[in-house]
Amino acid sequence: MVIEARNVVKHFGTRVAVAGIDLAVPPGICFGLLGPNGAGKTTTLRMVYGVTRPTAGSVRVFGIDVAVNPRAVRSRLGVTLQQNVLIEALSPVENLRVFGRYHRIPHDLLEERVEELLDFLELRSHAHVPVKQLSGGFQRRLAIALSLVNDPELLILDEPTTGLDPAVRLAVWARVRALRAAGKTILLTTHYMDEAQRLCDRVAIVAAGKVLAEGAPEELIAIHLAREALECECDENEVPALLDGLPVAHVLRTADRLTIYADDVASVAETIRLRDGGERRVMVLRPANLEDVFLALTGSTLEESQT
Ligand SMILES: Nc1ncnc2c1ncn2[C@@H]1O[C@H](COP(=O)(O)OP(=O)(O)OP(=O)(O)O)[C@@H](O)[C@H]1O
Ligand SMILES: [Mg+2]
Repeated sequence: MVIEARNVVKHFGTRVAVAGIDLAVPPGICFGLLGPNGAGKTTTLRMVYGVTRPTAGSVRVFGIDVAVNPRAVRSRLGVTLQQNVLIEALSPVENLRVFGRYHRIPHDLLEERVEELLDFLELRSHAHVPVKQLSGGFQRRLAIALSLVNDPELLILDEPTTGLDPAVRLAVWARVRALRAAGKTILLTTHYMDEAQRLCDRVAIVAAGKVLAEGAPEELIAIHLAREALECECDENEVPALLDGLPVAHVLRTADRLTIYADDVASVAETIRLRDGGERRVMVLRPANLEDVFLALTGSTLEESQT
């Protein structure tokens, strides 16, 4: 395992940020930590890269106990924090050089890496512009580039695409996939369920410092819900009659909408149509997704804060 966390706990005074988390991340996969605001994702990442000491439990990275030898671990990983850490007065090239020298990368090798990373994260057009003049998307890409300067075996990304426009998000996803294809291990957090479903081989859904479910996205969808979802408009008082006798795996009620999960929603929709008689009810049939699992497990959307 690249990362092995056993019953990790973190208290801040009386506040329990992480309440006993186990994680096992094998090499070469992209692993996602998902959860509402305040769930303990960033705190967990901080314990993995050794800047926060667990109150209890242990974290091993590359087989090394992080609390015992944080330096040995940190030299082999790269981190992109939730908030960018950039030297604002300097350009991307200069930032990359400063980070490279911090990692004691020999001059010629560093120049090579800087060139590679400028291309890899499409920073070349603004390579010599002071960071403070760059847009948020450029700054985020530079932050990711900096975390790659030491050619890490493990890359930790805390909300890599929050605040990015759709095109830049797609570009960042492509880079994450390329890194994974090159054999890197990636641990990321995200509030975007579509991102998690597309990028992650495995995810852990975390709430209130605990792992609620862990597995491959498709596996979690199959275990916790069903293959397909049917969204339909429905008044509160209609629900019992509407659902009566239907082969339904799970039901979720939000505002004016009922979402029914079943392995074959087409036949469920057909039954509802027959029961409705001539009346046309708006129904949407779609595959079930990770967002549905998240809602079913946490009872909230990711955008709703639970702090
Ligand atoms: N240094 C700290 N001192 C006190 N409390 C803290 C500290 N860091 C985190 N916390 C608390 O620990 C809990 C978990 O915070 P954490 O930042 O790990 O959540 P998160 O899952 O990353 O949330 P978000 O999605 O908003 O980034 C929160 O209740 C937070 O207020
Ligand atoms: Mg966080």
